[in-house]
Amino acid sequence: MSVHAAPRPLTLGDLAAKKDAGDPIVMVTAYDHPSAQIVEEAGVDLVLVGDSAAMTVLGYTSTVPVTIDEMLMLTRAVRRGLTAPLLVGDLPFGSYEASDELAVATAQRFVKEAGCDLVKIERGGSTVERARAIVAAGIPVVGHVGLTPQNATALGGYRAQGRTAEAALAVIDDALALQDAGCALLVIEAVPAEVTAALMPLLRIPVIGIGAGADADGQVLVLHDLLGIYGGPAAKFVKRYADLRSAAIAGVGEYAREVRSGAYPAVEHTYAMPADEAERLHGLLEGR
Ligand code: KIV
Repeated sequence: MSVHAAPRPLTLGDLAAKKDAGDPIVMVTAYDHPSAQIVEEAGVDLVLVGDSAAMTVLGYTSTVPVTIDEMLMLTRAVRRGLTAPLLVGDLPFGSYEASDELAVATAQRFVKEAGCDLVKIERGGSTVERARAIVAAGIPVVGHVGLTPQNATALGGYRAQGRTAEAALAVIDDALALQDAGCALLVIEAVPAEVTAALMPLLRIPVIGIGAGADADGQVLVLHDLLGIYGGPAAKFVKRYADLRSAAIAGVGEYAREVRSGAYPAVEHTYAMPADEAERLHGLLEGR
């Protein structure tokens, strides 16, 4: 009899060891139970229930409207599908900025009600103090710098950040401040590769890039982008590893054709009654 041991849950120490060994860290988003199981089986290290869910699965036009309760519902579903990867919850816009107390209370909900290992918050500025407060409350924090979609309007839209020396320095300063505040991990999004290359020697904590070149300690992509599920426009940094949208449309289209033609359901999809019982049923109906 073969006994399969359950995969060992990863720790922050494992991520630090990967960084030290130059072993790239793999992070991906997931928003529901089946996709959590898929990314776990594929062997990723970190799973982010990103507020990108607002656009990829909830149909909003930006990440701004998604609520704490919507994010918690999705995050709990992902938690139930994961064993080994670390789970990162994404605190939505408006759920942490106003005060340290609000930030800690929201982060606690993601840990207590959805089983998150870490929580992610966006920007430098006042977010640095919120990160410090959440860390002081005993919850590991992921900082997020560069393009921070929650305040895309203030950044001039969904566009690469840090493209001048001064703007790059501002991104680097945000990253350093978040590390000093105690962040365990940093996500850097949509900056020129030169910015990441300049930042890397200055940081002790693992850095996960998205549209930030190849120098980060790891990469993250949105699941619906990399699998080709999301139908909207894709950013420059997105690489599609599958075309599930086309496969899904073809599959549902074929089902619709077969229902309309009568090809589905066939005998093999149909329950049968023993012949004598069918005969008795007809007799019972006739006797009514
Ligand atoms: O919400 C999200 O999916 C993210 C990643 C793009 C890092 O923040």
